[in-house]
Amino acid sequence: DSGAHVPALVIGTGYGGSVAALRLAQAGVDVHMIEMGMAWDTPGPDGKIFANTTSPDSRSYWLRTRTKQPLSNFLGFPIDKNITRNTGILDAEEFSGITVYQGRGVGGGSLVNGGMAVTPKRENFGAVLPSVDADEMYGIYYPRANAGLGAGTIDPAWFDTAACYQYARVGRKQAERAGFPFVFVPTVYDWDYMRQEEAGTVPRSALAGEILYGNNYGKKSLQKTYLDRIRATGRVAISPLHKVTSVAPAAGGGYTVVIDQIDTGGVTTATKTVTADRVFFAAGSVGTSKLLVKLKATGALPGLNNEIGKGWGDNGNVMCGRANHLWDPTGSLQASIPTGGIDNWAAGGAFAEVAPLPTGIETYASFYLSITKNPNRAEFSWNAATGTVDLNWQTAWKQPSIDAAKTIFDRINQKEGTIYRTDLFGTYKIWGDHLTYHPLGGALLNRATDNYGRLHGYVGLYVIDGSLIPGNTSVNPFVTITALAERNIEKIIATDL
Ligand code: FDA
Repeated sequence: DSGAHVPALVIGTGYGGSVAALRLAQAGVDVHMIEMGMAWDTPGPDGKIFANTTSPDSRSYWLRTRTKQPLSNFLGFPIDKNITRNTGILDAEEFSGITVYQGRGVGGGSLVNGGMAVTPKRENFGAVLPSVDADEMYGIYYPRANAGLGAGTIDPAWFDTAACYQYARVGRKQAERAGFPFVFVPTVYDWDYMRQEEAGTVPRSALAGEILYGNNYGKKSLQKTYLDRIRATGRVAISPLHKVTSVAPAAGGGYTVVIDQIDTGGVTTATKTVTADRVFFAAGSVGTSKLLVKLKATGALPGLNNEIGKGWGDNGNVMCGRANHLWDPTGSLQASIPTGGIDNWAAGGAFAEVAPLPTGIETYASFYLSITKNPNRAEFSWNAATGTVDLNWQTAWKQPSIDAAKTIFDRINQKEGTIYRTDLFGTYKIWGDHLTYHPLGGALLNRATDNYGRLHGYVGLYVIDGSLIPGNTSVNPFVTITALAERNIEKIIATDL
């Protein structure tokens, strides 16, 4: 309610926000979480909470009248379609040189992501978070995060026989024939549930192509892990469809937080002001960066330092498809949860996940999302003329990512006598170089904040999400975001409360 006072306010309900809220509540602190997206706890007219990837509807996109599918074309034809504008689950946020996909709702990115729960190789960690003690991370916080998220690896024997991983077995065979290691990676999918899906004894979810717009059954999103434990503490209130617009020092101490309540059309229906002793920015790399850049530039938090908005990267994301020969079908039934990747990080700067293309028909296509060592970093800045925050990323900055991915796929194509697909991102376009799923940075650890996420210039303000990480994690990022949040909140609870 407007005028309320809360000990701790958390902006956002993704990985960073959920870790912060759970650990604060367990330490006896009352917490209020503010989330701009919906709760995602009520079934729609079809009896399901989430829409299927193959049939997007008003639940699928954040305030759009037309879908913006990451794979925009099939056989060269555009596949986007009109939908009713609504506070849907997937935000395709467009900056001048890149579209940044993000989850919206209670659970943040965990609602829409592929569930790949990957810990970086220890030898790469120094480049991921240079100021963080690797022994502590690999001894304590990565294990804590993986346990809290429920990460687990597929049974390799089942992988070898399951029809729904035919596409991944083709990916493994071709990787190995070209001399690259194929590695299984853990996921947060319930593998027992997937076996039952294949056996036909439970409703299908991963095997029905559910992923981008939410997963109705087997995926352990944050709703089923951290947020479930948060509810059990009885100390955390969550306000969905509420968006934080301002944080500024309050006259009597603490911070004044201004919050817009919105309806499902995105229209503000009320504006509330609360006071919080401590505020945790966990709005995601883009959300937190946009807020901090705006608040510094417009005078609400002028004492933030000049690192705010800097060091943003796309985790080197680039997509591509390959056309296989007719003797290498990838299967009409494809599990939507990727389970392995091709590791050429050390030699070529690329880690490629073998991704599904769950169209329901045989496509003879192999599809990949590569994470690459892209050195380019962008900066958020305040645009006073438009009253918005810009990001200066340029599409051409993806070239190092394409070059890195080619170290894998040129060689596979050469070995197999195959070619790239040119029909998935336009007509005669090979590379999906217009987007990222993995925004990172904008309020870097040990730069915009101290080495535990305390914002410089303001006691009681913290950053605790992907914006702390300098642009690349060498693998998929949410385990690292979760582990870093576990590390930081432990220190903050021990020393600041
Ligand atoms: P996160 O984005 O999760 O949460 C931020 C929350 O804050 C959101 O719910 C947002 O709505 C809310 N918010 C923002 N601004 C606000 C404001 N002003 N007021 C109130 N609320 C606000 N990663 C991985 O490791 N493995 C994978 O397989 C995948 N796959 C994948 C697929 C797709 C399609 C996407 C889009 C992303 C992935 N990811 C992924 C990435 C992963 O989901 C992402 O890195 C994390 O969700 C980021 O966690 P954070 O806690 O930083 O923010």
